Amino acid sequence: MLDNYTTTLAPRVTRLRRSPTAAISERIRALRSEGRQVDNLGEGELDFETPQHIRNAAHDAIEAGDTKYTAVGGTPALKAAIIRKLEVENGLTYKHSEVIAGCGAKSLILNAMLATLREGDEVIVPAPYWVSYPDMVSLADGKPVIVNCEENAGWKLRPEALEAAIGPRTRWVILNSPNNPTGAVYGPEEYAALAGVLLRHPQVMVLADDIYELLRFERSYVALPQIEPRLKSRTLLVNGVSKSYSMTGWRVGYAAGPQTMIGAMEVLQSQSTSNPTSISQAAAARALEAGTGFVGDWISTLRSRRDIVISVLNATPGFRCSEPEGAFYVFVNVAGLLGCRTPAGKLIENDLDVATYLLNEAGVGVVHGAAFGMSPYVRIAYAVDTDVLRAACDRIRKACEKLVRPS
Ligand SMILES: Cc1ncc(COP(=O)(O)O)c(C=O)c1O
Repeated sequence: MLDNYTTTLAPRVTRLRRSPTAAISERIRALRSEGRQVDNLGEGELDFETPQHIRNAAHDAIEAGDTKYTAVGGTPALKAAIIRKLEVENGLTYKHSEVIAGCGAKSLILNAMLATLREGDEVIVPAPYWVSYPDMVSLADGKPVIVNCEENAGWKLRPEALEAAIGPRTRWVILNSPNNPTGAVYGPEEYAALAGVLLRHPQVMVLADDIYELLRFERSYVALPQIEPRLKSRTLLVNGVSKSYSMTGWRVGYAAGPQTMIGAMEVLQSQSTSNPTSISQAAAARALEAGTGFVGDWISTLRSRRDIVISVLNATPGFRCSEPEGAFYVFVNVAGLLGCRTPAGKLIENDLDVATYLLNEAGVGVVHGAAFGMSPYVRIAYAVDTDVLRAACDRIRKACEKLVRPS
């Protein structure tokens, strides 16, 4: 039955989906509270501790009394650390008025959409995409234009597909490298090809979400404006400490881009979240300044976990996975499971059915591909303890061996 509030909710909120990744985590918590053993391979979060030197910086900030409001767009120290990182590591020069720190990359991406979109403006979102992009565009009254990127194209947006998607109302294209959910990483040639198209369409801005920057296996990181400096004045680089430094709970992201846009995002922030937590900002500044020596060990652990997932699942009938280049996800093709029946006789019709079966039968939480705009796939996050991961993959294999194949 509807309560009094349901009928008065704003259309902007009723057109949003509840985050599917948050929903799966909630379902897992509910099953665990019933005493079921469930492993969560659905969560986009590293299991590694935030490095000690970063945690120390937070303690130091508390003791130094850095516990009050800060400048809305970030402390001078954090902004200086962001600017230095972009200059030294990426050869990109930004002024203080061209960078902003916010409460996670998520909040900055939403603010960028709110700051720039008029009703009906279009935003090109290559699929598979991070679950929040289309909803954020809708929340800002824009229209997401989904462009499918096929697995055999390495999950990357091709220049011809970009060209075909651009129309008179296009305001943005969102690029995400390394990518969630596929782990695809854009290299210099791929960026150069996309830049070639974008240079012909000066009304289109680029949101480059590089939040997984440090988590790559082979390719080195390049930022789009490094490859095509003429795009710098219309690129919003979004990054943060959540993924690369295992600081998801600290809630600090940052963005660099044109001064007018950054200024508008700061006004929005001043009337919504205000500054990110003062203590987290001190920690994030230390993270960006202190170097990335710890990442090598993380990458080798992630590589061995990635290899476990790929080898077990590729040996399991019905699954097919290609090797991701970064982040900590494998986007697994489950077309071979459609049409099977569970031991209880239920027909597996789509990737949600696959995810539901794996949760109930194998006790493993994964996210169905439809949540990322592409089916039939499931996303497996391998950012969990290696022994837990191995056992979970084995249970997935055994559960799939129980499926009854169509004759
Ligand atoms: C591609 C992508 N961008 C942004 C975010 C949000 O990052 P943050 O925790 O800094 O808000 C996520 C988190 O899952 C992500 O996967």
